[in-house]
Amino acid sequence: MKVLVVGSGGREHAICWKLKQSPKVDELFCAPGNAGIAQIAQCVDVKATDVDGMVKWAKENAMDFVVVAPDDPLALGMVDALEAAGIPAFGPHKNAAVIEASKAFSKELMKKYHIPTAKYETFTDLDKALAYIEEQGAPIVVKADGLALGKGVVVAAAVDEAKTAAREMMADKKFGTSGSTVVIEECMTGPEVTVLAFADGEHVRTMPASQDHKRAYDGNQGPNTGGMGAISPPPQYTPEIAQRCMEEIFLPTIRALKEEGRPFHGVIYFGLMLTPDGPKVVEYNARFGDPECQAVLSLLDGDLMDIFLACREGNLDKLDIRWRDQAACCLVLASGGYPLDYKKGYPIFGLEEAGKNAVVFHAGTAEKDGQTVTNGGRVLGVTALGNTLEQAIDNAYAAAKPIFFQDMHFRKDIGHAF
Ligand code: AMP
Ligand code: GLY
Repeated sequence: MKVLVVGSGGREHAICWKLKQSPKVDELFCAPGNAGIAQIAQCVDVKATDVDGMVKWAKENAMDFVVVAPDDPLALGMVDALEAAGIPAFGPHKNAAVIEASKAFSKELMKKYHIPTAKYETFTDLDKALAYIEEQGAPIVVKADGLALGKGVVVAAAVDEAKTAAREMMADKKFGTSGSTVVIEECMTGPEVTVLAFADGEHVRTMPASQDHKRAYDGNQGPNTGGMGAISPPPQYTPEIAQRCMEEIFLPTIRALKEEGRPFHGVIYFGLMLTPDGPKVVEYNARFGDPECQAVLSLLDGDLMDIFLACREGNLDKLDIRWRDQAACCLVLASGGYPLDYKKGYPIFGLEEAGKNAVVFHAGTAEKDGQTVTNGGRVLGVTALGNTLEQAIDNAYAAAKPIFFQDMHFRKDIGHAF
């Protein structure tokens, strides 16, 4: 098969790496890709959000299958557009991807189907939002309804901070129309875990649980980022909790979406908080998480293409999906200054050496005059396995040692922060 993967980050590198191992995949393409992906797939110069351009390219080049990995093209309906052009695609349709694209929608769905989540109200009127914040008190959480690059959530310790956040989103349009509607919700406490699951519209098959590290600095300090590292599986997610999540959250969500006429085919991301009252949903995403994907797919012992096909065909329940009985750690090496201002174009050294002991997934990299250079905030995800979580973490840090680029920044406490 000729397969195209849409996207350009570490997640897409991990998906390409796994698909490359499939005997079903004869030719692999990635749009737009990065310097690491270019070593295993042909990179195509079409932007991930260019729906028309992607369909045109996929058609002209006779793709047999397209994997849409990032949130934006899913929310724009790229899967629907590809299918309308006769090209099978992996990922939810637009009407199911809305569980990530609209927090108001997903909260409403959870309320209707009694899926545990934080108590909330939705507002389109700033004065009413401010009055509600005043009435509820702090701590309280203010969220822009739409996609905001992971930055549209403010966990406010004080009432004034929450009010400022609501004003910035609703009146100052800090996130454009994404903030015209805001969700204001109860502040939950407890460790956070991610559970990614394959879904075929009806059945759901979970992957090993994982844990992201969203803050930029050690001890979960500093600004929110796209993710500074991930481990799998996190020790807090016990088999008892997993069972409870399956019964109270995963199955009810897949059934609810089907019931609503929005069957979910693809990877569904359950962002969970293990609160003193039990596991609750923090957020849904309509795709693999990044960097969780890099850690979790490293544990998959089988053919990812078979799973993608089953998600489309609706026979996921019949598939034997195996996972290595090991742990994984993905350590993100970022540009100094990320997620705020940072420079690009610095040469990266030590990649070959590091690659001997781990898989180095590229995120923000480019090729310049025969040299791999930095080209984004998150640059690399050094991913290693171990027989214990501790070993996986040690292996990832040890493997990353030879890598160097100017102003390189990484957290020293991946796997030890919670
Ligand atoms: P989200 O984009 O919805 O995942 O939110 C980003 C982060 O904000 C989450 O990973 C949590 O750490 C935090 N957060 C979101 N909602 C809540 C909540 N209701 N209570 C406590 N923390 C939250
Ligand atoms: N790692 C968080 C996300 O992908 O949304």
